[in-house]
Amino acid sequence: MSTKKTPTFVIKGNARYDRHDHFYKKAKQEGFAARSVYKLDEIDSEFKLFRAGNVVVDLGCAPGSWMQYVEQKIGHAGRAYGIDLLPVKVAFSSQIRIMQGDAFAVTLKDLMGADSDDLPAVDVVISDMAPNTTGIRSVDAARSMALSERALEVAERLLRPGGHFVVKVLEGGEMKAFVEQAKGLFQSVKIKRPKSTRDGSTETFVIGLQRKAR
Ligand SMILES: C[S@@+](CC[C@H](N)C(=O)[O-])C[C@H]1O[C@@H](n2cnc3c(N)ncnc32)[C@H](O)[C@@H]1O
Repeated sequence: MSTKKTPTFVIKGNARYDRHDHFYKKAKQEGFAARSVYKLDEIDSEFKLFRAGNVVVDLGCAPGSWMQYVEQKIGHAGRAYGIDLLPVKVAFSSQIRIMQGDAFAVTLKDLMGADSDDLPAVDVVISDMAPNTTGIRSVDAARSMALSERALEVAERLLRPGGHFVVKVLEGGEMKAFVEQAKGLFQSVKIKRPKSTRDGSTETFVIGLQRKAR
């Protein structure tokens, strides 16, 4: 039997990274669906986003590691609603509702599984949505920005005053204008690139704290 290991290095743009790096292995050991969980963990450790009993919306929730983190944080009294184009295979408890669909096309009523237009107030909206990349930087940046803007729109519609927001954005281009837009909605806006972000990636996170009163 051959003991040769399949190489796990991946080339993306100008970056070459090890797909099975420290965070990948840690996520496997700890039972998380993706290494992305450590990005949210780091952001939450710094900004204290979640509390037991919170209502959370997770946009682009597959394969499910952010939702696993949220489930632990909000406990049995909380509720969370997720959407992704892809199916989520993780088994969640009954207060977590996940739908397969497009964040651009879904109505907020469907997203929240609501019977009426009276939607529950949401404490935290998180979005790790990322487009399928083409390798053409300007195209990828524009697609990613459209997803970030959709997430901000959902946050504006659903978040209660005092609620928080986390969204992935790509650095450069329209990011400055996006941050300015977010400043209109939140008391404070922070930018953070977590340690687990892969070298060479242009992704970063915009964090909106304390939604302003309507
Ligand atoms: C980096 S992954 C999210 C990882 C997730 N936070 C986790 O921890 O498991 C980005 C996700 O965004 C989803 N996505 C991209 N465009 C979307 C859209 N228009 N609507 C819903 N999900 C979308 C992709 O299908 C992909 O699963």
